[in-house]
Amino acid sequence: MIQPHAKKLAGEIAVPGDKSISHRAIMLGSIATGTTEIRNFLLSADCLSTIDCFKKMGVEIVGRGEVGKNERILVRGRGMRSLKDPHEPLYVGNSGTTMRLMTGMLAPQRFTTKVDGDASIRKRPMNRIIEPLSLMGGSVQAIGRGGCAPLMVHGNPLVGIHYESPIASAQVKSCVLLAGLYADGETVVTEPALSRNHTELMLRYFGQPVTTSGTTITLRPEYHLTGGEIVVPGDISSAAYFIAAGLLVRGSEVILKNVGVNPTRDGFLRICEEMGAKIKRENERTSGGEPVADLIVKSSSLHGVTIGGEIIPTLIDELPILAVMACFASGTTVIKDAAELKVKESNRIDVMTENLRKMGADVEATDDGMIIHGGKPLRGCTVNPHMDHRIAMSCAVAGLLTNGDLDIDNADCAQISYPKFYEDLKSLIVDE
Ligand code: S3P
Repeated sequence: MIQPHAKKLAGEIAVPGDKSISHRAIMLGSIATGTTEIRNFLLSADCLSTIDCFKKMGVEIVGRGEVGKNERILVRGRGMRSLKDPHEPLYVGNSGTTMRLMTGMLAPQRFTTKVDGDASIRKRPMNRIIEPLSLMGGSVQAIGRGGCAPLMVHGNPLVGIHYESPIASAQVKSCVLLAGLYADGETVVTEPALSRNHTELMLRYFGQPVTTSGTTITLRPEYHLTGGEIVVPGDISSAAYFIAAGLLVRGSEVILKNVGVNPTRDGFLRICEEMGAKIKRENERTSGGEPVADLIVKSSSLHGVTIGGEIIPTLIDELPILAVMACFASGTTVIKDAAELKVKESNRIDVMTENLRKMGADVEATDDGMIIHGGKPLRGCTVNPHMDHRIAMSCAVAGLLTNGDLDIDNADCAQISYPKFYEDLKSLIVDE
């Protein structure tokens, strides 16, 4: 239950490690040569699914140090061809990134694997990766209903292709690039707009050249990666909830340390600024090839904006919390070109609209987004995030400002990406 008693938010936190980068560090570390030492790894349900899958393929992955202090994950990579037949299905839980990226790595192996996940994963589209992998000579079958998981991945030799992706999706791009590591010849991916580029950055960091020109990425396989040390930046998608809370609750000032501000991920900050937010970036630096900064957030009066076009892939996971912010902004906010929201962990257009309306907001769902008329007071009620972690956390922020308590069904689903979310949120609240 979230009680709207927050007089203000104050203090400093370091949000946990980036989910996308944590997954990739395990995957690339597993096929690199030498030990990859990962610091600030995100110990959430999704990333633990990735660890579990790669352990089942014979990779030695161990934790060291004290949790919350100096913990680190060591991945003892034995090279590109070291993955072993797991002889049992690989279970990805709720994690789309694990399923889509790992399938790219399984397609060129010399064994057959079944990949499966939870009820949400079994509803998410997989044809988007099956198609390019087939063009490369891969053999992946979706044996679930409607072209969905479980997937049967029959290992096959692959050839490089130039894939023109119909969607700006880092999971699709990364799947093809990871398969391309094993392919004969060059692999090229062109996207309609640039999606997050963590795979490209990490491949370069591990010694595999990748070039980018506009929205086209080219990989000429070297068939060798070298493990190294990765310090995972704080996840901007997790920071977004505290940024929103700091902006919305009057009199607040919040400092978020060590946040990844990669330009392919920072659309949320750009939109906040366009809405009138006061956010300062300090101490800008790079960590493991990724840009990082501390963010200082002061409560601000926000106004509505239109969010659409090329910025969408850079803030796709932040659209639920932006919808909450729009409810408290003056004027109208239009979210468009975001039909991808329908195929996330839940249909985020419908589920956000349903929950915000329950709170009394003026929100309309459209085919590719939402239209939100801000300024209506929100009331406490019981909301249902449909087991979607980002919806639960977005609702929790709304609950700081509702008239009356807000109850969130299955609020614990936040552990998919942020196990200590409610604790961290509480630590910033200064009670009346
Ligand atoms: C991710 C890519 C995005 C994002 C997801 C993580 C990644 O998905 O929504 O949470 O790590 O590559 P899409 O590639 O489907 O847009």
